[in-house]
Amino acid sequence: MTDAPPSTLLADQTAYAEAVQLALDSAAAYYRDGTSTLDDDAYDRLVRGIQAYEAEHPDAVLPSSPTGKVAGGAVVGDVPHTVPMLSLDNVFGAEQLAEWVASLERRLGRPVTAWSVEPKLDGLAITARYRGGRLAQLVTRGDGTAGEDVSHAIGTIVGLPARLADPVTVELRGEVMMTASQFEEACAKRQAHDGTSFANPRSAAAGTLRAQDRPYVCELTFFGYGALSHPDDSSELAVRLRESPHSEVMAWVAGQGVQTPAVTDVGGVVAASLEQVQERVEQIAAERAELAFGIDGIVIKCDLAADQAQAGFSSRAPRWAIAYKLPATEKITKLVAVEWNTGRTGIIAPRAVLEPVELDGSVVTFATLHNVADIQRRGLMLGDSVVVYKAGDVIPRVEAPVVHLRTGDEQPIAIPQVCPSCGDAIDASQERWRCVRGRACRAIASIGYAVGRDQLDIEGLAENRILQLLDAGLIVDFADLFYLTREQILGLDRMGEVSTDNLLAALDRAKGQPLSRVFCALGVRGTGRSMSRRIARHFGGMDAIRAADAEAIQAVEGIGPEKAPVVVAELVELADLIDKLIKAGVNMTEPGWVAPGDPSDTANSELPLAGMSVVVTGAMSGALEALSRNEMNELIERAGGKASSSVSAKTSLLVAGEKAGSKRAKAESLGVRIVDPEEFAGLVGSLL
Ligand code: IVH
Repeated sequence: MTDAPPSTLLADQTAYAEAVQLALDSAAAYYRDGTSTLDDDAYDRLVRGIQAYEAEHPDAVLPSSPTGKVAGGAVVGDVPHTVPMLSLDNVFGAEQLAEWVASLERRLGRPVTAWSVEPKLDGLAITARYRGGRLAQLVTRGDGTAGEDVSHAIGTIVGLPARLADPVTVELRGEVMMTASQFEEACAKRQAHDGTSFANPRSAAAGTLRAQDRPYVCELTFFGYGALSHPDDSSELAVRLRESPHSEVMAWVAGQGVQTPAVTDVGGVVAASLEQVQERVEQIAAERAELAFGIDGIVIKCDLAADQAQAGFSSRAPRWAIAYKLPATEKITKLVAVEWNTGRTGIIAPRAVLEPVELDGSVVTFATLHNVADIQRRGLMLGDSVVVYKAGDVIPRVEAPVVHLRTGDEQPIAIPQVCPSCGDAIDASQERWRCVRGRACRAIASIGYAVGRDQLDIEGLAENRILQLLDAGLIVDFADLFYLTREQILGLDRMGEVSTDNLLAALDRAKGQPLSRVFCALGVRGTGRSMSRRIARHFGGMDAIRAADAEAIQAVEGIGPEKAPVVVAELVELADLIDKLIKAGVNMTEPGWVAPGDPSDTANSELPLAGMSVVVTGAMSGALEALSRNEMNELIERAGGKASSSVSAKTSLLVAGEKAGSKRAKAESLGVRIVDPEEFAGLVGSLL
C-alpha cells in the first residue's frame, strides 16, 4: 500500500499565490467537465504544499485558497442542497488509516465495533430526489451547498429507476459514472458524430450528465452510497433512515430497486475490527483492475448511527468516514514519439510512445492516439507533457497536453503523407485514415491471421511461406489458398512432396471449419473470436449473416448501433472474398445450429453446461492438454455454457489447472465451484 506522497514546497508568497491559482483552475476544470490540468497526485501534492505554507504563515492565507473547501473552491450550480453534500478526508496507506481510526476512537471514547467498507466510486456525486416514489429531480454536488439541476438526464442512468418500490419521499445520494462498455460505446458514438473522443470515463460521464442537446444519447450508471430524508421530516421512514446502521440503510436502498455496490464484487461489507477493515481494503484493491468501472479508493464509514452522530462533521467532511486513496490511474508523462502503423484491415493508426510511467499496477510505455484529426484538435506536440489515463481493462489513452508545462522545445508531430506500410496513397476521407489498398496493403498480416490456430488453423503456412505465395502472384487473399494446385505448391522454393501433401491436407481440413472460425478468419473490423462465435450462433449460416441489415445485426449480444453498420459495410467490402470461399467449398454453416423457436431448440437446455458461466485458468492437462484458451472457450459454448474471462459472483464454475493464480483465490473467496481439467473433461464428456 502507498505512503503519503510528498507535498509541493512553496518558497515564498508569490509561489504560494501561484499555487493557489493553479489549484483553483485545476479544480474548476475538474468540476466543470471532468478534464484534468493536473493529475490527481500532482493536485494532492499541490494542496498539501498550500496547507503547509498556510500553517507556517497563517496571516498570509488568501481568501480564495482551496484548503478547507468542498470541491476545491470551484463553484457550480444554483439548486440549494437540503443537507450539504460534503467531501471526504483522505488517508494514504495502512499506517495512516490506523492513526485515523485511533484518533476517532479517542474522540468517541470507545472502540468502533462496526465499520462499513465500500468502494470509492470514481464518478460524479449526485443527489436524486424522489417524491412519492417518483424520481423528481437530479442535482449535482456543485460546491456542496448548491448544485446544478441535471434532471434532463433522468431515464438515461442505469440503476436509478424512475420509480421506487415504495411511494416514499427520500433523497438518494450516489455516484454517476460510465462503465467500461458504456465508455467504449459513448466514444464510438461521439467519434461517429464529430470525430472526437472522450478522454476517460469520468470526464465522459461529467460531459454526458450536463449535455442537454446532443443528437446522440450515452448511457450512464448510478451506484448509491447513501439515503436521507429532509431534516424536518419526522415520518417513520425518516426516523428509520436516521437511526439505522448505514449497512441497513443501503440494504433498504437496494430493496427499492436502486443499484448499490452490493451487486458488484466489491460491495459494502461490515467489518468488526481494524484488521477486518484492512483485509477488505486489500481485497477491494486487488479487484480494482478487473472491475468494469473506475474506483479511486475505498470508503470506510462508522456503520452505527450513534457513532456517526457523536463523531459529527468538520466544515468539509464527516468525521465518521474516511477515503483510503488508491494510486492514481492518471499521470502526467512525456510524449516521446508517435508511431504510425497500418493494421490488418488497412487502417492507419497513430500510437504514442511515452516515457514509461506506472499506472494502475502496470508500466505504460505506449498509448492510443485516436486519429490524425484528434491529434490536431488537441494540439499535441512531441516532447509535450501529456495526461495518460488507464483504469481497469481500458487501454491506456493520451488525454491532452499540459500546456503550462511546455518549455518551447516541443516539436510538431509529423503526419504521414503515404501509407507507412506500403507507401501507397492514403484514403483520408474518413476520420480513421486507411491505406487505399485496404486489406491488400497488409495481405501478409490478414492472411496470417486467417490461417492462425484459432481461425482456419492451417498448419505449414508461416509468414515466409505466405510471402512466397504472394510474391509468386499465386494468391492475393486467403481464399486463393484453396485454389492452389499441387504443382503450384511444389514449384515453391524449399517445398518437398511431403510438405506439399501436408499443406494440401491441412487446406482440405480447413474447409470443414465451423462458420464461427471462417467468419473470424475474415477479420471483420470490430469482431474478434468470441464475437464471431456469437454472430455464427445467432445466424447459423453465412447467407443469413449477409442478408442481415444493421438492425438485424444489432440483435447479436454485444453489437451496438455503432458497430452494426460497420459490420454490414465490411461484409459488402469482403463480398468477393466470401464468394471465392463459397466457390472453393469452404463450410458456411455453424454445426448444431437450430433456428430460434424450432422445436429442437430445447436441446440446449439438456447440454451439460446449460445456463452456466464458466472461466478457465491455469495450464490444462490430460485430455484438455492440447487445447488453446480459444478452443476451451469453444468447448464450453458447445456444451451450452458461456465462456468468460474473469471470475465474479455470477461465475458458476472455474476450471483451474496447474499454476492457477488469483482467479482461483477469488473463486474460493466467492464460494464458486472449482474443478480440475480432468473433472471438467468428464463433465463435457462426448462433446470433447
Ligand atoms: S460517502 C458526507 N461513499 O467521494 C459524504 N462517498 O471524495 C459522504 N464517493 O463526495 C460520502 N464513493 O461523491 C461516500 N462509497 C462512497 C463513495 C463516495 C464515492 C464520492 C462522493 C464524495 C466523494 C469524496
